[in-house]
Amino acid sequence: MYALLTAAYLCLTLVSALKINQPAVAVTSRTTQTCGDPSNAVPYYRTLSTPLSDYYYTADAALVDSVCGGTINYALQGVAGLVFITQEESTVPFYRLTKVAVNFFTANTTERDIAIQQGYILTPNDPLTYIYPTEICGAVPFYRMVNTAEQANFYTTSESERLDFLTNQGYTDLGIAGYVLPLGGSS
Ligand SMILES: *[C@@H]1O[C@H](CO)[C@@H](O)[C@H](O)[C@H]1NC(C)=O
Repeated sequence: MYALLTAAYLCLTLVSALKINQPAVAVTSRTTQTCGDPSNAVPYYRTLSTPLSDYYYTADAALVDSVCGGTINYALQGVAGLVFITQEESTVPFYRLTKVAVNFFTANTTERDIAIQQGYILTPNDPLTYIYPTEICGAVPFYRMVNTAEQANFYTTSESERLDFLTNQGYTDLGIAGYVLPLGGSS
């Protein structure tokens, strides 16, 4: 198990290292609009490591395939919603914090800072992903919940999936993490 955790940590560290080389985030300056350009929205992939009970979300398909795929059993589960990888109008950073075998995502800077005090690492290049802080521009709630026993953080736009996790899978409701564009329904 220790080897597994170490592998996971290395994987996540590698993910962080790779992202450093990506271009600097461009900030748009469209003053007359209050929404991001939905054509710039990209899939936010959801992966799960069953042995680690850890959900990892990323907008980078290459990372899903090449970095975490297989070696520590992160498997692609689907697309959680559509997000931005440049800071579009009215969006806020959706921070990714990592601790060994745990991924935690939040748009709340207070929570981010508390997590850092608790030993989570905010990767140097983050924020990489941006979401809406309120229900505007056709975005839908990105529900969040936690399984404290398994230290698993889960996020979904699906009301039925949310209910299943809360009712049958030991998760506790933590409200809404932010708002993402729905698949095929961005406006
Ligand atoms: C952010 O997190 C802090 C600490 O959990 C909480 O007190 C605060 O209400 C949160 N802010 C929002 C806007 O949810």
